[in-house]
Parts: sequence; structure tokens; C-alpha cells
Amino acid sequence: MNSPPAPAPDFIPQMEPCIGDEERKAVADYMAAPGWLTEFRNTALFEKAVAQYCNCEHAIAVNSGTVALTLAALALELGVGDEVIVPNFTMIATPNAIKLAGATPVLVDVEPATLCMDIDLARAAITPRTKAIFLVAINGRYPAAGIEAFVDLCREHKIALVEDAAQALGSRYPDGFHMGTKASIGCLSFSAPKIITTGQGGMLLTNDSRIADKLRRLKDFGRSDGGNDIHDSIGYNFKFTELQACIGLAQLEKLAARVLRKKAIWQRYQSALAGIEGIQLFDMDIVNCVPWFIDILADQRDGLQQFLREQGIGTRVMYPPINAQLCYQVAGSFPVSEEVGRHGLWLPSASQLSNAQVDRVCQAIRSFQS
Ligand SMILES: Cc1ncc(COP(=O)(O)O)c(C=O)c1O
Repeated sequence: MNSPPAPAPDFIPQMEPCIGDEERKAVADYMAAPGWLTEFRNTALFEKAVAQYCNCEHAIAVNSGTVALTLAALALELGVGDEVIVPNFTMIATPNAIKLAGATPVLVDVEPATLCMDIDLARAAITPRTKAIFLVAINGRYPAAGIEAFVDLCREHKIALVEDAAQALGSRYPDGFHMGTKASIGCLSFSAPKIITTGQGGMLLTNDSRIADKLRRLKDFGRSDGGNDIHDSIGYNFKFTELQACIGLAQLEKLAARVLRKKAIWQRYQSALAGIEGIQLFDMDIVNCVPWFIDILADQRDGLQQFLREQGIGTRVMYPPINAQLCYQVAGSFPVSEEVGRHGLWLPSASQLSNAQVDRVCQAIRSFQS
């Protein structure tokens, strides 16, 4: 089989993980001594470090963000017959995790300014079968009504709130709380394109010790204590590995610098792209939030993407509306997520992008649009 051609040396990828000598050394050091590879001391250190960074009582490592969302649903005892409200613009993992737990995702549209779930539509979608809302901190943003409005809505209706903060490590609410720490459970992802990565991986955040205990059992075969074979509840195997933890700890050291760089990249794009006809930028609380990806609406999205590809610039089409995916096919009117599906484009967004690369992307967009 022929391997795909190597990209040109000056190709700018839409996203690329950034792994350095520190990660390589951490893995090599671990491998130089006897070890079981599966989660142990390094994983506990990684959990502790993430809990500290997010100022949260419990952080529980699992093998993906999808698994974190699924375990959140299982820990909250969501299942067959239960409805869970989710945004129609999100990564497919959010509704799929709800389905994996046996519950039914109910799709509602997002706000045009933040692309987060519209609280009025969420309120209107609540029925006697609604058991939870899965709010997505899309691209590190929070909804215009604020997180407290969602907390209050859920409290009023006695339903659970889960924050899908897979894209939001580093982002905080204006009161300083890290995203993912206001709900019963928050979920992070460390997949390859995230601000820090362990290849794959996820983390559950909670301040509720009872829920934390349940989550730990769910990810470890329902064991009542690590290492024994006494099972008083059903659980599975969604454990982390020490190799991931070694990489994660080294990546965490770089998070503060990446947060600053992502914000600077976003600001550079904003000033260079402002005023270009046919290009719409989104607002961002850049003081508190970290843009994971640079998102735009482009009136000629597909033509622009093709043009940029010819210029050696990678982009990614933003998520199509969930309701229109073949595996969902839900009828209804979702104008904002449909608009994003037609015109949304992610520009190069890696934290290692240089200013010169950002300028090259912006110049190419300007020349296409003029
Ligand atoms: C909003 C959102 N939720 C969930 C996930 C799933 O995370 P993972 O890829 O770690 O399973 C992602 C991944 O990109 C995501 O963006």
C-alpha cells in the first residue's frame, strides 16, 4: 500500500499535537524501571494536578472524554426512558454518550453569539421525562445567560446538570470557577487535538464525594477497593495508563503558556480578519476563556477551504448539526446549528502556530474574499 504523500514543509495544519522532549523523557524514565503500565502513582499525581488546576475536589482519569460523559450519565442513573437535553451543535460524542447509557438525547439549538445551548430552548424542551441537561462549553465558551442560570434551571426542575468541558481546559467562568466544576459532574478530554493531550484520555470532575466514589467504581469493574475482587456494584474497565499519565503531567507543565498563546493567536486573527466581507467572527470572553479552535463563518466556506488547501493551509469544516447526521435524523428547526453546518470553518489553531503563520492564513483569506 502506498503511504500518503508527506505535506509540503511550509504546510500549516489546522491542528497538531505538541509533544516535546519532556514527554519523551518522562515515558523513557518510566519504561526504564519495572512497572505495570496500568494506572498507578503517576495517574494519581495527574489526577491531583488536574484537580488542583481546576480547583475541584475530585478528578478521575478515564480513557476518553466520551467515556467520561458516559460514566457521568451512568453515575447519575440516566437510562432507558430518560430524556437528556443536549445542544444540536457539538461533537457527536455528547449525544452518543447519552445513547450509550440507554437514555434519549433531546436536541436543542444553540445561541448565534456563543454557539452554546440556548437556555430558553432548553427550558422549553423540559418534559416530565427530562432527567438532565448536558451543557457543552463549546470552544471554551459559556452561554450568554451564564452558567448559574443553567444551575438554577436544573435545580428548579430537579434534574441533573453535566458540563461537557472537553474543549474547555483552561477556561473559567467570570467568577473564576473552572469550567466543568459548577455542575454535578464535568468532563474533560485529552484527545490529540486538545490544548494538552495524552493521545486519548478524559477526566471526570466533581465536588461530590459520593459521586466520585461511584465514578471510581464504574471505571474499575465495580470494585469496592482498588485491587480486590469484591463487587457490590456493576462496573467496567475504563482505566487510564501510567504512560498517558507521564505524558499528561509533562503536558500540564506547558498548559499556562499554551493558554496565553491561544489567546494571543485568537487576538491576532481577530484584528487581521475584522472587516473582511463574507467572514464572520465570534465573540469570546478572552479574559476568562481559552479559544480551543479559531472558528469563523465564511459565506463561501467550501470555496475558501479549497483555496486555502491550495495555499498549503489546513482547515476543518465545523460540526454539522447533530439532527442532520444520518445516525440521528431528527426533524425540526435548528437555524443556528444549520447555519454553522453550512458556513462554519475552523482555521489553523495549534498553540505552536507562529505569528507569521497566522498572518499568512489571514492574508490568504483576505485575497480570496476580495
Ligand atoms: C465537546 C466534546 N465532547 C466530547 C468529546 C469527546 O472526547 P474524546 O475524543 O476524548 O472521546 C469531544 C472531543 O473532541 C468534544 O469536543
